[in-house]
Amino acid sequence: MFDTLSPAAADPILSVVEAFRADARPHKLDLSVGVYRDVQGQTPVMAAVKAAERALCEAQASKSYLGLAGNTAFLDAVMQLCLPAEREAARWTAIQTPGASGALRLLADLLAATRPGLTVWISDPSYVNHAPILRAAGLQVARYPYLDVASGSLRRDALFDTLAGLGPDDVLLLHGCCHNPSGVDLSLADWQRIAGMASRQGFLPWVDLAYQGFGDGLEADAAGLQILARALPQLLVAYSCSKHFGLYRERTGAAMLLSRSAASAQRVQGKLFELARRSYSMAPDHGAEVVARILASPALTQQWHEELDGMRARIVRIRSRLADALAARGLDGERLRRHKGMFSMLPLSPAQVERLRAEHAVYLVGGGRLNLAGLDETRCDDLSAALAAVA
Ligand code: LMR
Repeated sequence: MFDTLSPAAADPILSVVEAFRADARPHKLDLSVGVYRDVQGQTPVMAAVKAAERALCEAQASKSYLGLAGNTAFLDAVMQLCLPAEREAARWTAIQTPGASGALRLLADLLAATRPGLTVWISDPSYVNHAPILRAAGLQVARYPYLDVASGSLRRDALFDTLAGLGPDDVLLLHGCCHNPSGVDLSLADWQRIAGMASRQGFLPWVDLAYQGFGDGLEADAAGLQILARALPQLLVAYSCSKHFGLYRERTGAAMLLSRSAASAQRVQGKLFELARRSYSMAPDHGAEVVARILASPALTQQWHEELDGMRARIVRIRSRLADALAARGLDGERLRRHKGMFSMLPLSPAQVERLRAEHAVYLVGGGRLNLAGLDETRCDDLSAALAAVA
């Protein structure tokens, strides 16, 4: 049956993790997949998560099925966390999904079912899995200018020139904060401008919010999304709890959708349920229940805030330390201080990325993306030496 299958392409991120694991050199550095690591180099289970899991273990009386929406306490809590408090609840639909990737795929399936062949615009560059997920759902993918790799800054004029040509048959996928892979975020003025263009031109914005709390804080990181949610009649959101709750492998996410009317929201909900049911049926509950329990408890919420603030502060410290180490070797790392979240991109050629791996055991994702949240602070000097050697 499967003898004629052509070999699958290697995943651009997970294949780097595999190669890193197979590398026996003790000084190797993994700056590839987007996970947070602490001073011991571990990706810890957050203490608030552990506490919620202990309570859950004691209190949960059944593992019977939930409804098609998934864990509704979780959905209410995360909508509270990222959407405007004064939102019109009847126009919002939400469904729990297996991570934000599940939300991306489900919303892509919804768009394809609504209007086949629709074009979704993604940033250039964007998260490596955006285009494959959208294309797998049968959508067209186009790219809008975003990052000037040489300067590490936003191509603002080119971006807005492209957006000026979008209309009612276009969907615009935006990174809510901590742009993956560049770390370059839109300003509040940019979000306002996009809201104005979307309402005049009729294109549909879609926000992928996977790093809330890793940029400037929980509220600030949702500010762009909230500008759109207040200004527009329709909006899509893919939401992840992988990073800010450290629940990566629990696949905890949500798809949220703002419709023009309560009646339209109900139709959307029915369609989302149908699409989910025939794909994976229901999302796994464990991570969602953990998040719901944390956010229902003032003490656990406080603990989680403190842990999240600590992670963010550590990333900022690593960014600054690496920028200093690069400056000491005559390299310009100032962009690292400006960028937000886990990632930054350095202007490295594929050959330089390969040399870093082969000669220095430094593993980046192709294109020159570094996961700064995965860098051991004491290795900043080693990394700057490797970067200087291939410069
Ligand atoms: C990443 O970009 O490294 C993460 O979002 C992990 C993933 O699932 O690709």
